[in-house]
Amino acid sequence: MPGPDLNLEGLIAEVRGLFREADLDDPALEARILVSGLLDMEPAAVISRGPSLVPADDVARIRAAAGRRVLGEPVYRILGWREFYGLKLLLSKGTLEPRPDTEVLVDAMLPILKGLVGQGRKPRVLDLGTGTGAICLALLRECPEASGVGTDVSDDALATARANADLNDIGTRFETLQSDWFSQVRGRFDVIVSNPPYIPSADIAGLDREVREHDPVAALDGGIDGLDPYRIIANQAMQHLADDGFIGVEFGWDQLLAVQAIFEAVGFVVRDAVRDYGGRDRALIFARNAGFSGE
Ligand SMILES: C[S@@+](CC[C@H](N)C(=O)[O-])C[C@H]1O[C@@H](n2cnc3c(N)ncnc32)[C@H](O)[C@@H]1O
Repeated sequence: MPGPDLNLEGLIAEVRGLFREADLDDPALEARILVSGLLDMEPAAVISRGPSLVPADDVARIRAAAGRRVLGEPVYRILGWREFYGLKLLLSKGTLEPRPDTEVLVDAMLPILKGLVGQGRKPRVLDLGTGTGAICLALLRECPEASGVGTDVSDDALATARANADLNDIGTRFETLQSDWFSQVRGRFDVIVSNPPYIPSADIAGLDREVREHDPVAALDGGIDGLDPYRIIANQAMQHLADDGFIGVEFGWDQLLAVQAIFEAVGFVVRDAVRDYGGRDRALIFARNAGFSGE
């Protein structure tokens, strides 16, 4: 039998206390995110609506979810969705949980897309390893004239990306394609983006438990030095990029020089280097080197 209704303030305090005992990094923030997410409220609203009563069924749901969090499941995996660039994105087993730092890649690519629109074009975007669809869908939402294709090796990720496009009313401008990087991609795109797996294989076992156990290994493992996907992408990108196109890639904080060298070796030039919210190197944007004859 469900227990009594509880007031929201008391319930948040109870969850916060559980999270503090479990030694979570930010118990207050996580309690707010979990409770507001489960009650379909804005996180700020759970504070302003403190004294209101929470029905007993919801109290039971919230306590069960808090128990899962204490056992190590990430808060957004429990909710089943996460916000990215103002979009609500569903998560599934085959998708990486999109990280806020990836938003800086969207910020860097948007002016390029808008510039093309300013020239009267309808830009086409290719997102390699789309996962939830995060990068491509954010670009399409901000640039209504653009359309895009999200590729992945994971069926599950592609189904989730498709659902996210529909959920965010971008469905008619977004296609999914199962493809090992460029293998099934046809034609040229104005903008290519990718946040490929970039963790060296031997480092996976040492990642935080929450990442290691809940993000799919295919979204993390970038081969021996973490750079295999960049080599493949750089080698084939010229054939799929418009002559005046740009490619933007995310990478790990210590990989800037290596990624730059891989792309420069096949005839790209750096247009922009982007730092994340923590001030660490996070993304590079490349253009074709007009004088390079390696293609
Ligand atoms: C780091 S995750 C990025 C997901 C999403 N773009 C984001 O930023 O949140 C890398 C993605 O690449 C996909 N992937 C891994 N190997 C791939 C391959 N050979 N071809 C295409 N996609 C691949 C994974 O399934 C995963 O969705």
